[in-house]
This record gives sequence, C-alpha cells and structure tokens, in this order.
Amino acid sequence: KAMEIVRELEEKCATPTAKLRQVADAMTVEMHAGLASEEGSMLKMLISYVDNLPTGDEHGLFYALDLGGTNFRVLRVQLGRKEGRVVKQEFTEVSIPPKLMVATSEELFDFIAAELAKFVATEENDFQLTPGRQRELGFTFSFPVMQTSISSGTLIRWTKGFSIDDAVGQDVVAELTKAMEKNGLDMRVAALVFLIIVTAMWTEITMSMQVNDTIGTLAGGRYFNNDVSAAVILGTGTNAAYVERAHAIPKWQGLLPSSGEMVINMEWGNFRSSHLPVTEYDQALDVESLNVGEQIFEKIISGMYLGDIVRRVLCKMAVEATFFGDNVPPKLQVPFILRTPEMSAMHHDTSPDLKVVGDKLKGILGIHYTSLKTRKVVVELCDIVATRGARLAAAGIFGILKKIGKDSVKEGEKKKTVISMDGGLFEHYTAFSQCLESTLKELVGEEVAETIIVEHANDGSGIGAALLAASHSQHLGTD
Ligand code: BG6
Ligand code: GLC
Repeated sequence: KAMEIVRELEEKCATPTAKLRQVADAMTVEMHAGLASEEGSMLKMLISYVDNLPTGDEHGLFYALDLGGTNFRVLRVQLGRKEGRVVKQEFTEVSIPPKLMVATSEELFDFIAAELAKFVATEENDFQLTPGRQRELGFTFSFPVMQTSISSGTLIRWTKGFSIDDAVGQDVVAELTKAMEKNGLDMRVAALVFLIIVTAMWTEITMSMQVNDTIGTLAGGRYFNNDVSAAVILGTGTNAAYVERAHAIPKWQGLLPSSGEMVINMEWGNFRSSHLPVTEYDQALDVESLNVGEQIFEKIISGMYLGDIVRRVLCKMAVEATFFGDNVPPKLQVPFILRTPEMSAMHHDTSPDLKVVGDKLKGILGIHYTSLKTRKVVVELCDIVATRGARLAAAGIFGILKKIGKDSVKEGEKKKTVISMDGGLFEHYTAFSQCLESTLKELVGEEVAETIIVEHANDGSGIGAALLAASHSQHLGTD
C-alpha cells in the first residue's frame, strides 16, 4: 500500500517534455496578457521603472537593505572606478524573526530601520565617499510591489508566509521612511528631476531605489556580465525578471525610455495552469496556507514548500499504510516541521546505509528506527518532489526565452543569453539545480543550449539594488 502511494505520487508529479512545453507556452501566453493590461493575467508583469541597467562604471559608496524571504541583510559596498570592480564590501545578515512576519507594518519597518542604523554606525574610514556625493541606499524588498516610480510603490500582497494586513496597499518606501525618522534618522523629502529622493541627513544617505529581489539580481548580474538578460530567484519563494522591449508593453503609459527597454518583474510565483501537475498534497497545502489560491507555481517549486510536500506524503503513508509502524509519529503532523534544507540533506545522502536520512527522521520527526528500505523510499520521495519543481522552473525559464526570442539561434548571432540565478534553493540544493539545468538543455535543444548560460549571481540582489542606486544617481547628474 505504501508503495502504491509512492507510485501514484510519481505518476501525478510526472513532467514529460511535452507537458513542460505546454507549461512554457502557457507562461508565454500569460506574459503577453500581463503586459497588455493591469488586470489581464495572473501574472502581474510589474513595470519596475528600471530602464537602464548597471554598465560597470558605477562607483562610490553604497548601502543596501535586502529584505528577502528568510533573511534580512544590510550591505555596504565600495565600487571602484574600474569596470565591474567591487573594492570592498561588508554586510550583516539576520534571520527575520518569525513574529515580525505576522506583526504590524510598524514593527517590521522599525526592525529594518534599527538594523540599518546599527550597521551604518559601524562604518570605518576605509570606505570613501566620492567627493560631492552622498552615500546612497538601494532597498530590495522581495514581495510584489506596484511601482509608481523607481523609488516608490505600494505592496500588492504578501507572499512566503508573511501576513501583515496593515501594510498591504501602503507605500513601502514611505513606511520605511517613517521608521527611519523614528530611529533618529532625520529625513527630508526632495523632488529631484523626475524622482522623489529621500535624504537622511543624519547619515547623509540618499534612498533612490526600491526594487524586487529579481530586479536586484538582474542588475547585479549585469554589472559583471553584459549578456545577462533575465534573473530567476529560487529560494523561499520563486520569481523571475527580464528585460523587455518597451514597445512590447501595451499597458505602459509613460514616455518610451531612451534605452527602449524596461525591466519587468513577472511575479511568476502566482502562475497557474491546467497543465501544472498538481496533487492532493499540493491542494491541501494551499488550502491550509495563509494565501489560499495564490502563488500556486511557487507552492510547487520553492524552498518554503518542498519539504512540507514530502512531509504530507509521508504522513499519508504513515496513516494509511503504517509506513512507520503501527503509530503515526506525532511530529509528522506538524506543518513545516520538515524543512527543505533537511529534505535536501536526505536527498543528497550518499552513505551506504543512508545514515543522514536515518538521523533526520529521528532528529526532526522523532522516528527512531527505520530500515534501509524505508530510508530509500524517503529519498525517492524527495527526488520525485524536487524533480517536479526543478523541471517546472526550467519550463518557466523556457517560457521567458520564447517570449524574448532566445529559444532559437539566429543566423550569425553569437551573443549569449545569461540568466542570473539566486536563492537558497538554487545555491544549496544541488540535485535541484542540476536537474533544472539539464531540463533547460532538453527544452531548448543542443544548438540553443550553447548560447544559454545559467549563472549563479555573485552577491545577491542587495548589491544590485545598490548598483541601481548608483546608476540612477548618475542619470540625475549628481556624479
Ligand atoms: C538573496 C537576495 O540573495 O536571495 C534576497 O538578496 C532574495 O533578496 C534571496 O530574496 C532569496 O533568498 P531565500 O532566503 O529566499 O533563499
Ligand atoms: C515571492 C515574492 C516575489 C519574490 C520571490 C522570490 O514570490 O512574491 O516578489 O521575488 O518570492 O524571493
């Protein structure tokens, strides 16, 4: 009976190439719809107002705040005058206290401002300001924001287990500004050219950027490699951004940017399609989540959820097929107790007796005795769930390549298409990232595969936000 459950899962999670092509096509269709009108698609295709990416010439002293899914980082980076040169960087990283994820907007932003204030105070004098320029601050906020300019925008909704009602619909930068004022940062709002620039007099920090992590990753990737044209985050959540031709965005009402380009935050986590292989476990996970019916693609692919899908299958096997003996291990019924990093550790266990699997089952789920056969089944479950996620993520990327016409090689064209990747899932879950890369090759075919490069983004999206702050201050003529 237990093996029946496994076989059924395998069947329901199957992602043959033909299915992946359908998913990619559906993604492309939704991309078009989301670009056509604001309410046209489950893909928001958010206009970032970033129409110029870093060139490698940025220089000066920059700060970045980076609120991701699990961690919060503050960075300080000195960019040199030589192309693509990070002279020095420092950062501090803290995990976001879970109680703040469901608290009030004020508590969350107070925490961010306080961490920034602490970190700024540790700046030593081997960091140097460019004469005549202030420290600039980029803010990476890894949630869906409807931008109204490059430095302002309202939160559409929370994802990844955050749920702070009073922040939805609010201007993220305004919330942060309020909190910074409270933390002794003297703020002044000045209209400068077309942009609103917020200046903290106390530390002379100019906040000129607020971006999604995908946009930050794209910008960070472009600084080091001119061929980067898309970015994908595979971490707690999942999302993608890419460079679109401005005239291919019918909903864009503004002036056509001189670059002719606009970076789009797809918010692909909210993608769904009848072609997605969804199981009873995914449905139950969704129904019990804080955002029912939303982020369906994300719930199948990303790090926040993979471990819990495996737990749900194990739970059914325990209840219906006495997989762990006569009693159902109580801990197996605790949502999110099995985290994706632990799933990854079990999946990668190469020891002959699958010791890591045994230890994890014992340590996390309190299951003391497991046979080698049982452990092997657990690894198989991890493999089924991770493979489905990785292959679907590859299909999503293939959808983007199709949209931007990079799914075929044009006569005489040698240019590479580089995709910057980031996030804990991509970085640490090797079986997942390897499967993603091989699936992408399978989808694009051998010839095109030679032109597509999947690259782990060097320093996260925080640096990208700092770089955008830099390139935009230059556009404003403050250099
Ligand atoms: C980081 C970015 O490198 O990757 C974050 O700087 C982003 O902003 C993240 O959200 C993904 O992280 P995680 O914790 O979700 O794996
Ligand atoms: C979630 C957020 C999105 C972010 C992604 C990766 O999907 O909604 O904005 O980019 O997670 O962190």
